[in-house]
Amino acid sequence: MLLLFVLLLGLGLGFYWYKHPKNKIQAVPHNFQWHTEKPLPIRPFVNKRNFNPSIGIKNISDQPENWLLIENTYLSNITIRRKHLEANPHQTMQIPDNERTVAALCEFYNLVTGFLTARYPKLFLHGWTGKLHNEITNDDIPFKADPSNPREMCNALGRTIEEDFLILMKDNPDNKEEEYILRAAVNAFPAGFDPSKSYNKPISAIHGPVPQYASRLAFSMHKFFNNLKQGDIWVRHNWSIQTHNQHFNLDSNHGRPGQEVKKIGFDEIDFEQGCFLRVERQAFLRLPNSGAIVMTVRTYLTPMPQIKKEGLGPELCRAIDSLPEDLAYYKKRDAWGEAVKQYLMK
Ligand SMILES: *[C@@H]1O[C@H](CO)[C@@H](O)[C@H](O)[C@H]1NC(C)=O
Ligand SMILES: *[C@@H]1O[C@H](CO)[C@@H](O)[C@H](O)[C@H]1NC(C)=O
Ligand SMILES: *[C@@H]1O[C@H](CO)[C@@H](O)[C@H](O)[C@H]1NC(C)=O
Repeated sequence: MLLLFVLLLGLGLGFYWYKHPKNKIQAVPHNFQWHTEKPLPIRPFVNKRNFNPSIGIKNISDQPENWLLIENTYLSNITIRRKHLEANPHQTMQIPDNERTVAALCEFYNLVTGFLTARYPKLFLHGWTGKLHNEITNDDIPFKADPSNPREMCNALGRTIEEDFLILMKDNPDNKEEEYILRAAVNAFPAGFDPSKSYNKPISAIHGPVPQYASRLAFSMHKFFNNLKQGDIWVRHNWSIQTHNQHFNLDSNHGRPGQEVKKIGFDEIDFEQGCFLRVERQAFLRLPNSGAIVMTVRTYLTPMPQIKKEGLGPELCRAIDSLPEDLAYYKKRDAWGEAVKQYLMK
């Protein structure tokens, strides 16, 4: 009898452990204060030798707790996100509409709420009412995914994490040739493109405008996605410069073929408040049940004076000059290049 009890208890605990992989996520230190947590100083151009586009991706699977971040920008950014989500629901949210993709969204949703309570136990509380309580915004969202309401799930995620996300799936998961297709997304901070144009498109179509995509990136990305192991997390960064202060940008950040790039004068730029290094921290992982790939994107806007203060002016100038022509055009270097360099060297 006792043996049976012990056996059952063991099984129960084992099952709980298996079902709650968040146990692997280490909580932040006891004295963690979100409002003093400085944004990660990601400066991808520093010491970089080759500026051709590359996938440049790093395995951070041994620190899964660094997947989604809460930093001192949380409240202000979440407030901005909510505004964009409300004002542009179609452009910011791709709501899945079939069972398979809704199931993947549910899986992602549960992963996020589980992660937040495990990583930030004082900021995100799983109450007995079945809600996830957000101590920073004083907001409640359902703790568990609700497959009957994918729109509300997208909304809740968009209002809770600073990261945008994309869920990519194949129609036939076993087909190695097939590309991943964008099936669900929240994109409150697009960097110069209209996210709704990518809905239900394969990765290659989404990256069509990226210079050298076909020659340098397509193959390695395809391979990377096919081989992405469940349980692994990979991170990559990319950067550009923008001469306005909006996160939400549908088309002005990038040069497109046939478009004339107009040079902006030094005096036309507000370097103190209207010129930023824009960095994306992209993370990739595979959802265990659906096999879908999730990409989360965290956007950093760092004011130019900060870069200068860090002593990185000359290094950023070098990076600006080192961009290959096609990438320079894509990043609109002809518009801001001279003026930004003049500011950085002053
Ligand atoms: C990524 O890192 C984890 C943990 O260090 C390791 O177990 C895994 O095999 C790595 N993935 C690949 C594809 O190398
Ligand atoms: C980063 O790369 C993606 C393509 O992978 C592009 O759409 C985005 O605009 C880039 N962001 C920045 C800040 O350069
Ligand atoms: C949003 O957060 C990023 C860092 O995550 C920061 O660079 C940016 O300035 C923030 N924006 C606001 C308005 O707080």
